[in-house]
Amino acid sequence: MSDVTKQQLIKNLLKEHNGVLLAHNYMRDEVQEIADITGDSLALSIEASKTSADIIVFCGVHFMAESAAILSPGKKVLLPRPDAGCPMADMVTADELEKLKAEHPGVPVVTYVNSSAEVKAHSDICCTSANALKVVRSLDANELIFVPDRNLGRWIARFVPDKKFIFWEGFCPTHERMTVAAVMQKKAEHPDALFICHPESAPEVSALADHVCSTSGMYDYCRTSPAKKFIIGTEAGIIYKLQLDSPDKQFILASPALFCPNMKLTSLDDVLLSLQTLQPIVTVSEEIRTKANRALERMLAIPRD
Ligand code: 13P
Ligand code: SF4
Repeated sequence: MSDVTKQQLIKNLLKEHNGVLLAHNYMRDEVQEIADITGDSLALSIEASKTSADIIVFCGVHFMAESAAILSPGKKVLLPRPDAGCPMADMVTADELEKLKAEHPGVPVVTYVNSSAEVKAHSDICCTSANALKVVRSLDANELIFVPDRNLGRWIARFVPDKKFIFWEGFCPTHERMTVAAVMQKKAEHPDALFICHPESAPEVSALADHVCSTSGMYDYCRTSPAKKFIIGTEAGIIYKLQLDSPDKQFILASPALFCPNMKLTSLDDVLLSLQTLQPIVTVSEEIRTKANRALERMLAIPRD
C-alpha cells in the first residue's frame, strides 16, 4: 500500500471517529503531512485541552499523550507507538522528587513537561521550552526546584538572576549528542548561516547560538528572519516544516546525531492500525490526573505572547 493510500485511510478513519491527529514537530515527514495540528509541546497541550474531538491520536512520545489524557478527561487518547518514550522523562521519579522536596521544604517545583504524569502530580507548575522563562518569572518565590532538564533549567536561570535554582541533572540524550566540534564544523562550512538551537542543548553549544528557542519558536524565527541560511540545532524532523514554510531558505542540520529514536518510531502503518483498533489507549489514574492537571493548568493560565 502506498503512503498516499495509507494517509487517505487514516483521514477517513479520523472523520468516522471524530478524531484529531496531533503531531509533534519531530515526527516523520509523512506523519506531519496528515496531522490536523503540528506543533511544539506547548501548542499541542493547548490543542489537547480545547479540542472537541472524541479521539486524540497523539503522534509524539508517551509524556505528550499522557498530558493530553490529563487535560482532556473523557477523551480517548491513542498513542500509536506505546514504546515511544522519552529518556529524559525517565530520569526523575516521583519518589526521587519527593526526596529533593524534603531537603528544600516549601520551595516550589517547576517541572518540564518532558516528565511522567506522576512527577507532574508532585509539582507546583509545569513548563515547556516555549514558556519556561514566563513560568519561572510568574513564581512568587526567590528559590525554585527545576526538573528534570538541567540544560533548559540553566538556560533559563541566566535570565532570572534574582532567583536561586535547584537543578535536577536530567538531559536529552539526542540534544546532548550535538557537540561543539560538530557545530563549529557547520559554522566553518556555512559562515553566512545563523545558528539556532533548542535549550535542551548542552550549555557550551547554546553559547554558540544566534538564537535559542523551542521548536515552534524556530519556525517563527526562520520565517521572519531576513537571513537565508540556518544551521539547525534540534531534532532532524523539524526541517520538514521549516523548508515547507520557507522554500527559498536553506536549513542545515547542525549534527548528524540529531535523531531521536523515540520520535522516529511512529509510522503511517502504526497510525492506521491504531485507528482501526482504537488502541493503544493512554490512561492516567484519576488521583494522579487531578494533581498533574493542576500543575498543567497553572502553566496554561499564563498568557502567551
Ligand atoms: P518543544 O517541542 O516543546 O520545543 O520540545 C522539544 C522536545 O524535546 C520534545 O520532546
Ligand atoms: Fe526526549 Fe530528547 Fe527525544 Fe525530546 S528529543 S523526546 S527530550 S529524548
